[in-house]
Amino acid sequence: MDITQLLSVEHKVILRQVHYLEKLMKVTRSEKTVCCLREMTMLIADTVQRHSSLEDKFLFPEIGRYFNEEKNFIAMMEFEHGEILGIMPVLENADDPKLVRKEIENFIKSLRSHFLKEETSYFPYAKKKLGVNRLRVLGNKAIKI
Ligand SMILES: [Fe+2]
Ligand SMILES: [Fe+2]
Repeated sequence: MDITQLLSVEHKVILRQVHYLEKLMKVTRSEKTVCCLREMTMLIADTVQRHSSLEDKFLFPEIGRYFNEEKNFIAMMEFEHGEILGIMPVLENADDPKLVRKEIENFIKSLRSHFLKEETSYFPYAKKKLGVNRLRVLGNKAIKI
């Protein structure tokens, strides 16, 4: 399987989880649900962490190795991974319901923007430059992890 296809499917899975998280955010304003929102977000963030590590390990170095001019873009994507996953230590220690909600809203916003960038610009670029066969080799390595 082409690694960009695999990663795009994972985006869909993660965004479906985010959809339920947003639903829960809307239907409940009670302070008692904060721990539930936090737990749900931590589970999603855990999936995002695994997903990002596949990109960091298989796709970004491959692009960087072949195309020196792409190093800035890769650095930006890696920076965004750090920014998105930065919510994990914050949520672990946050008890203030308003802060928890604010952090979750930022997490969702950053995640959507990051996925969109990858799907509309980065993945098509990788496909064009590396070719489907190379992306399949990388995909086969990634699914074994
Ligand atoms: Fe990413
Ligand atoms: Fe991604």
